[in-house]
Amino acid sequence: MATKRVVVAIPAPPAVSYEVIIGSGVLNELGARLESLLKPRRVTVITNDIVWEISGTRLTDSLNKAAIDFDLVSIPDGEANKTMETAGIILTALADCGAGRTDPVIALGGGVIGDVAGFAAAIYMRGVPFINVPTTLLAMADSSIGGKTAIDLPAGKNLAGAFHQPGLVISDLDLLTTLPDKELAAGRAEMLKAAMLQGDEFLAAWRTGISDALGGDLGVTEDLLERSVRYKAGVVAADALDMTGRRAFLNYGHTLGHALETLLGYGQLGHGAAVSIGMAFAARLSENAGLGVTGLARATEELLIEADLPDRPPALKAADIIAIMELDKKNLAAEITFVLLRDFGRPAIQTVPRALILSTLEEFMNG
Ligand SMILES: NC(=O)c1ccc[n+]([C@@H]2O[C@H](COP(=O)([O-])OP(=O)(O)OC[C@H]3O[C@@H](n4cnc5c(N)ncnc54)[C@H](O)[C@@H]3O)[C@@H](O)[C@H]2O)c1
Repeated sequence: MATKRVVVAIPAPPAVSYEVIIGSGVLNELGARLESLLKPRRVTVITNDIVWEISGTRLTDSLNKAAIDFDLVSIPDGEANKTMETAGIILTALADCGAGRTDPVIALGGGVIGDVAGFAAAIYMRGVPFINVPTTLLAMADSSIGGKTAIDLPAGKNLAGAFHQPGLVISDLDLLTTLPDKELAAGRAEMLKAAMLQGDEFLAAWRTGISDALGGDLGVTEDLLERSVRYKAGVVAADALDMTGRRAFLNYGHTLGHALETLLGYGQLGHGAAVSIGMAFAARLSENAGLGVTGLARATEELLIEADLPDRPPALKAADIIAIMELDKKNLAAEITFVLLRDFGRPAIQTVPRALILSTLEEFMNG
């Protein structure tokens, strides 16, 4: 299995470009790649105890081989700790370690570690180099690319943050062997979302490869992951600061997904399950709104089932769901903005009348 390399090239301004290295065993190359990229005096590694237990020895060996000293900051696990308080712990540790303006921060972990460590790197001394070593499938496919860093506030998720692109992303597939099924499903859902948004060759490769990937074929997983990363890299290059609407396509399936997570309580329904159900709903809504081609909802359900992802909603009241959506969108008007599909590969952002959302939700809840 050859190592894959994707370049994220953001044209302007300021122009930035960085490599995403994907493959089995690529964590071992971290030290050498860092040395040739930045020649760092020292680095600070931000992780948590779970991830350090799994990957700490390999990271240490890799940095030692390149003669790079490091300080380790282990933060508490989980979304509940993606907070200003945790960012403060990291910033204080950076200062205590004597980290300077050219000393990189390395995030070793899932999307939570990447988001909060990236945020600290964005604001420490007004920005220091940031290296992302994602260890979950979701972080490899999605959150490690594109430079969005964030913390949650009591008022909502990702409410504070900064754009701060990494200088390098190292995605080692070997780390996925310890990942729980629920976390793998979360990554798979985001990858399938990218395949549906891209359509064409990516979706064809997905249909051909998904059962082998589920059966443990790392080569196929690597191929699908590389395609997801290329897709996200293209979107980010076209709309790095989330200004033109292109990057908003990445929220496909997330409007209902977020509402389900909120209604059921975070952690009850996995993020992957929530987004999967959200995509099944968005496809049905696309058809009902007269935008999506006939058969889109059925084809979406088939793709979800093949990928061992849920396509049916939990038993909830449609009126409760729509109330959360309205709150989430801070939109109490008669319509809500959705990412819909004309067909696979042809996303559109459209406002949908409340009455149509409600009737489609009722139809969706009832089978
Ligand atoms: N910045 C972005 O563009 C972006 C995009 C999508 C999502 N996100 C954010 O990403 C976060 C979700 O990330 P996530 O799904 O990676 O969750 P996570 O970071 O909470 O990781 C999930 C769990 O897996 C554990 N873990 C990590 N690597 C492991 C491994 N190799 N083996 C076993 N366990 C491992 C973690 O400790 C954690 O308990 C959310 O906060 C979300 O807002 C950000």
